[in-house]
Amino acid sequence: MSNRLLVTGANGHLGRRVVEILLQKKAGTVVAASRDPAKIADLAAKGAEVRAADFGKPESLRAAFAGIDRLLLISTDAIIVPGQRLGQHRAAVAAAEAAGVKHILYTSVVSPFPSDSIIENDHFWTEQAIFGSSMSWTILRHALYTDNLLNSLPNALASGTWATATDNKGRNSVTREDCAKADAAALAASDFSKRIYDITGPAPVTAEEVARMATELTGKPLKHVSITKEQLAEGMKSAGLPPTLIGALVGFDVATARGYHATVSPAVQDLTGSAPTSVRDFLTANKAALMPKG
Ligand SMILES: NC(=O)c1ccc[n+]([C@@H]2O[C@H](COP(=O)([O-])OP(=O)(O)OC[C@H]3O[C@@H](n4cnc5c(N)ncnc54)[C@H](OP(=O)(O)O)[C@@H]3O)[C@@H](O)[C@H]2O)c1
Repeated sequence: MSNRLLVTGANGHLGRRVVEILLQKKAGTVVAASRDPAKIADLAAKGAEVRAADFGKPESLRAAFAGIDRLLLISTDAIIVPGQRLGQHRAAVAAAEAAGVKHILYTSVVSPFPSDSIIENDHFWTEQAIFGSSMSWTILRHALYTDNLLNSLPNALASGTWATATDNKGRNSVTREDCAKADAAALAASDFSKRIYDITGPAPVTAEEVARMATELTGKPLKHVSITKEQLAEGMKSAGLPPTLIGALVGFDVATARGYHATVSPAVQDLTGSAPTSVRDFLTANKAALMPKG
C-alpha cells in the first residue's frame, strides 16, 4: 500500500510546488495542509486531499495529521517575533508524533547552529526536537534560495554597487524549484532511515562573481563592495527593517563569510535525477526580473 503523504504550508511558494510535483508524479495519496484550506482549493481540484493545519493552533494539529505516514514540515515565515517560529515547529513535531506519523521531513538550513540569529537558531532547535522524537526523519537542509537575488540585485543595479558582509566568500545557493523537486522526491520515497541532506546548488559563487554575471546580463555596471556586519546592520536599521529581520539577514552574510554556506552536496542530483540549476542559468532565465524597477 502506498504511503499517505502530507505537506504543511501548502499555500506557500515552496509547499504549493511540492504538492503540484507530487500530484504530477502520481505519488499516491497527497494531503495538502494550510492555515486557510480555501486558498488551496485549486490543489484539491488537481487531486490533493485538503486539510487545515495552523502551527499556532497546536490543539488542532493532531487531527490534521491523523492517518499520515510521511509528513513534510515546511518551516514557517514567522521570523519577526523571537521564539514564535520555534514554538510553532516544536508544536508541529509533537503533534506529528502524537498523531502516529511514522516519518517526518523538515526543511532546515545548511549549517544550522545555536545562534543569536533567529534563522540558524530555530532550525537547529527544530532539528533537535525531531531527533528527540520517536519518528524516523529526513532533514532537508536548504541552502539560501538563489531566488533571493531577484530581491537584492535590482536595487544594487540601480545604484551600481552591491554591499555585502560576506567577505566575498562563496555561497552555494539553490533555486526554490530545485528545493521543491528534492523535497517532493524525499517525501515520496520509501526511505524510513534517518538522513540529513544538504540541498545545494552545483558550486559556491562569490558576490563579486554574481555582480559580474548581473553586469553581463543587463549591460549595467555593478560593483561588489565588502562592508562590515555592523555597517550592513546600520544600513538596514536606517531603512526601517525590524531588529530580528536585520539579525537574520546579517546572519546570512556572517555565515557565508565563515564558509558555512559553501557546502557542496550531490543531494539534488541524487534525489531528483537532475543536476541543480547554477546561479548563472537562474539569472539568465530571469534576466527581465533583474532590471531596476521604476
Ligand atoms: N532558503 C531560503 O533562502 C529561504 C527563503 C525564504 C524562506 N525560507 C523558509 O522556507 C519556507 C518556505 O519558503 P517559501 O518561499 O514557500 O515561503 P513563503 O511563500 O513565504 O511561505 C511561508 C510559509 O509559512 C507557512 N506558515 C506561516 N505561518 C504558519 C503557521 N502558523 N502554521 C503553518 N504554516 C505556516 C505558510 O503556510 P500556509 O500559508 O499554507 O499556511 C507558507 O508555507 C519559509 O516559510 C521559510 O521558513 C527559506
